[in-house]
Amino acid sequence: MKTINRRQALLFGLGGLSAVALPALHLNRASAQGAHDMHNMSPAAAAAPSGVKLPHPALLEADSSGLINLKIAKARHSFQAETSAASAGINGNYFGPVVRLKNKSHVRFTVQNNMDEATTLHWHGLMIPSDMDGGPHNVIKPGALWQPEFDVNQAVSFNWFHSHMHQETARQAHMGIAGLLHVSDGGDRERGLPDTFGTDDLFLAFQDRRVIDGDTVYAPDFMDLMHGFRGQYLTVNGAIAPVATVPQSIVRLRLLNASNARNYHFRFQDGRMMHVIASDGGFLAKPVAVDILTIAPGERYEVLADFSNGMAVDFVSLADDGSGRTPKLNDAPNLEHLMRFEVSDGLKADVTKLISVLEEPAAADPAKSVRSRSFIFDENMAGNMAMMRKKMMGGETAPMGQMDHSQMGQMQMQPPTKMQEMMSNSANGAMDHGEHSARSADQMGPTLTAATSGITMSMADKPFDMNRVDVEAKLGSMEIWKLKAVEMGHPFHIHGANFRVLTKNSQAAPDYQQGWKDTVLVDGEAELLVHFKAEGKRSHPFMFHCHVLEHEDTGMMAQFVTA
Ligand code: C2O
Ligand code: CU
Ligand code: CU
Repeated sequence: MKTINRRQALLFGLGGLSAVALPALHLNRASAQGAHDMHNMSPAAAAAPSGVKLPHPALLEADSSGLINLKIAKARHSFQAETSAASAGINGNYFGPVVRLKNKSHVRFTVQNNMDEATTLHWHGLMIPSDMDGGPHNVIKPGALWQPEFDVNQAVSFNWFHSHMHQETARQAHMGIAGLLHVSDGGDRERGLPDTFGTDDLFLAFQDRRVIDGDTVYAPDFMDLMHGFRGQYLTVNGAIAPVATVPQSIVRLRLLNASNARNYHFRFQDGRMMHVIASDGGFLAKPVAVDILTIAPGERYEVLADFSNGMAVDFVSLADDGSGRTPKLNDAPNLEHLMRFEVSDGLKADVTKLISVLEEPAAADPAKSVRSRSFIFDENMAGNMAMMRKKMMGGETAPMGQMDHSQMGQMQMQPPTKMQEMMSNSANGAMDHGEHSARSADQMGPTLTAATSGITMSMADKPFDMNRVDVEAKLGSMEIWKLKAVEMGHPFHIHGANFRVLTKNSQAAPDYQQGWKDTVLVDGEAELLVHFKAEGKRSHPFMFHCHVLEHEDTGMMAQFVTA
């Protein structure tokens, strides 16, 4: 048990509400005890190795005419035996295939929306003109077909695609409207890298879920919208605690954090190294060995892992406290189980030596910047708290106990909620870091939607507005962007551009973040050198935003065009 400080209090949503809410709390010991038990049941325990074989997404390449067909539909998915959850998928029940794009090719897509709601499909990481980018301006109506086409001409890289429907992105991506994508030049074998798809070149998408059974899988409450939706079930390619069988050799893991808000701090349980060879925008100059790898939502890393000793190993995450900081191993003894690797000598061992050199990205040269800009990730904590207090109580001062439930509109609160219990616990100085990430279905407040909650956040001083262009940049130019996150860590992402991380809190970024990227976790201050690579048309401005999808949906997003 730890005493929480102000920053953590804000992080857990206690900033303004607690003073009002606490006097009205009538805590029932039994349910408080229940919450405690729930908390002690760590996600790791909840996800003891299942023995389920790692599902690997199928490979999808363009046909001889350069065409790739994608179909989006609602479905059901079984994350665990004997469960069935409402889901959505692309060419499948949940999530999508691995689309392989040949570099220097022209590619055409058909994206058929077979759902009863509108969506979009954004190619996260592709440097293509904004009217093909699949952002909020590229709406695909129910039953409609979208046919983007573009030239692929960029660094060999591991990317993904996902819904970017304004104010619905968090729900739709969480349902499974997403897939993996990589740009290939066919040269990986020559580079000495594993490239046997699904065998020694594994694509892994990590998503946490709160509900894995039934129809209502995404029902965020106030805290979820403020801090991002986290769930206690950690899934890999749609399975809980799966087992991958790998050859007794060097294996390439392409890691995507496809979660709405959770950061992962990957680690092999036995401490063996991950050799980072690439980040979002392509290869690093040389492999960087790390024992813990923090990855924020939307971010990708490719790592090499050495299984040549034949030993099985668990892949785990250090518990995430939502702050954006990488926990110290000793600070977070509860390791959350993600998956297990077992080694089979029946699989062909292709690559047995770690490469030492990759492709040097041109040195980041801040002198190339033509101007600088500053942006703040603004949760509007005080304003949103006051708004919510008002909504819940029909006034600033009415005590919680006298709340008229009919005034609560869409908020059907069932007192005392676990949210209130948590507030009470924290007032006693008894709240633990893990509490937020370990919340489960019965610990929730009333369900809200980004569109109707009234919550507003911003990235460029004002909440997102589809009709306002926030930045005009020169196509092909570079700018220094100074980003600031105050209360918690936020993953910054920009479309149609790549950047280098110049500094994080005035220090050099860690070596594995020295390559080209499009997403980076900002906790405190960061300086980026942004390279505007694709044309941002006025009809379809490009986005930059926080990749905590609840933040994006509530307005922590802005637009730019290029000239
Ligand atoms: Cu991965 Cu604007 O998104
Ligand atoms: Cu993107
Ligand atoms: Cu954010």
